[in-house]
Amino acid sequence: MRGVLLAGGTGSRLWPLTRITNKHLLPIYDRPMVQWSIEALVNAGVTELMLVTGGTHAGEFLRLLGNGHEFGIDRLSYGYQEHPGGIAEALGLAERFADGEAIIVMLADNVVERSIRPMVDAFEKDPTGARILLTEVREPEHLRHLGVPEIDAEGRVVRILEKPEEPPSNFGVTGIYCYDAGVFDVIKRLAPSGRGELEITDVNNHYVRQKTMRYDVLDGFWGDAGESIDAYYAVNDFVRSYGANKA
Ligand code: G1P
Repeated sequence: MRGVLLAGGTGSRLWPLTRITNKHLLPIYDRPMVQWSIEALVNAGVTELMLVTGGTHAGEFLRLLGNGHEFGIDRLSYGYQEHPGGIAEALGLAERFADGEAIIVMLADNVVERSIRPMVDAFEKDPTGARILLTEVREPEHLRHLGVPEIDAEGRVVRILEKPEEPPSNFGVTGIYCYDAGVFDVIKRLAPSGRGELEITDVNNHYVRQKTMRYDVLDGFWGDAGESIDAYYAVNDFVRSYGANKA
């Protein structure tokens, strides 16, 4: 399966660390952050990967990752986002790379304790529509920084709210998504959100409305190391003590 790894953005929440490098190159325990998501994707069966980045430190990714072979990637492509226009806009740059096939997408600041392979296997059995990975989050304060699904009595996602004041469930939407090839047409029809970006949550809500969105709930720890300086250290502490990407 083809993977798209999104490693752009300004990293404003980790300022001033991100003045001198891209957020996804900051250390998480013993390696640059981006290597954890690459390992997660490769362990899930990704052999062809496109990394989309932007900003002033993009060249450093080439120095770190080269042609990707050392990391288990057969074909590594790079995309460059000219302006920070949101996660969905960055994903749109991968249209030709995807070449009409379904893809798995991961935000490069997400770190998982356990393998994401079960989700990818489930999607590969029926690679239509979309599939998201949810994680249980107990603190409402944390949910207010995430996409949060509203789930009905039958366990179906009714809609996803981005950074809601009043979270409608105790699940956060992680930055790990599977999409069919139709996702690129969905992105072309999006309008920018209040913060002027093309939102991945709007992409996901399209699939929810089409009734082709499915989900899995992640086992074990999940962290978004780019969410805040405290989240960055929480992910560091977790990975240092317990590791990541375990089978
Ligand atoms: C993004 C998504 C959000 C998701 C989060 C996971 O938020 O918009 O729905 O829950 O990633 O990492 P961001 O980190 O860009 O604020």
